[in-house]
Amino acid sequence: MSGNVEFPMNGGDGANSYSKNSRYQVEAINLVKEMIKEAIAKNFDVTSPSFSSNTIRIADLGCSVGPNTFIAMKNILEAIEWRYHSKNLTSEMPEFQLFFNDHAYNDFNTLFTTLPPDRQYFAAGVPGSFYGRLFPKSSIHLMYSSFALQWLSKVPEELLDNGSLAWNKGKIHYTIASKEIADVYAAQFAKDMDTFFNARADEIIVGGMMILIMPGFADGVQYSQDPSCPFFYAFNQSLLDMVKLGMINEDEVDSFNLPLYATSPKEMTKLVERNGCFNIERMEVFADYNIPLLQS
Ligand SMILES: C[S@@+](CC[C@H](N)C(=O)[O-])C[C@H]1O[C@@H](n2cnc3c(N)ncnc32)[C@H](O)[C@@H]1O
Repeated sequence: MSGNVEFPMNGGDGANSYSKNSRYQVEAINLVKEMIKEAIAKNFDVTSPSFSSNTIRIADLGCSVGPNTFIAMKNILEAIEWRYHSKNLTSEMPEFQLFFNDHAYNDFNTLFTTLPPDRQYFAAGVPGSFYGRLFPKSSIHLMYSSFALQWLSKVPEELLDNGSLAWNKGKIHYTIASKEIADVYAAQFAKDMDTFFNARADEIIVGGMMILIMPGFADGVQYSQDPSCPFFYAFNQSLLDMVKLGMINEDEVDSFNLPLYATSPKEMTKLVERNGCFNIERMEVFADYNIPLLQS
């Protein structure tokens, strides 16, 4: 795998589809439900002039096909409605417009045909990479993304360069490779996050917020202790076995690198502060889940 990364999860609702194989992700979404409610109660100022249009616009970046995105969006809408109730503003309850974003090759047909029939929002699809602008300036009140920012925008070039110290020969991921290779992944993640924050800062209204759920691990944990490490190791070994059996050649393994990166609270804090567009209101690590909440 090389170049820009643009491939979606398995669509449809068959046995191998994302919708039937994303329990891990939905468990995290449910785990943070109360945190999101608290964050919206504390930080989402529905009385500010930015909320005066009576339409609240929310985007899910890297939504895939559902049902996870529908569950996450329902949780967010309930939290916002509760916020209006708690302020005795029920007569001013807004309408909601939800934007479901993913790569153009995402199975948007499945997404749209399975939209909850009882939904209380207007739905729209937005194709394209979130490592770039997706919305007009100052148009979105709340940005949400879960389990998508671990995908780098591209495989770092050094991994494929046999003249570089970071040439990833025979390996497919940094968690099972040398420090030089891990550094190259970290540098790509830093660049990608900067691009992501700059685009979102343009698009979010003043007083809006961003909720990010990302795979990660606690500060100080070594890359090799990443809980996904045994999976990457087994995957790598299988490819090397296939080389031995003559099913694929060595060059194909050398050119295959998984563009996946898991961050830590310390690293995220550094990247957010260096970028300067957002403040971190709350960030927590749940077992092997890492859940930053950022507000513009
Ligand atoms: C593991 S799925 C997560 C889906 C859903 N958010 C959830 O929590 O279950 C990751 C999704 O992010 C999307 N994705 C990855 N990189 C992206 C990018 N640069 N722009 C838009 N979507 C992206 C993938 O296509 C995929 O559908």
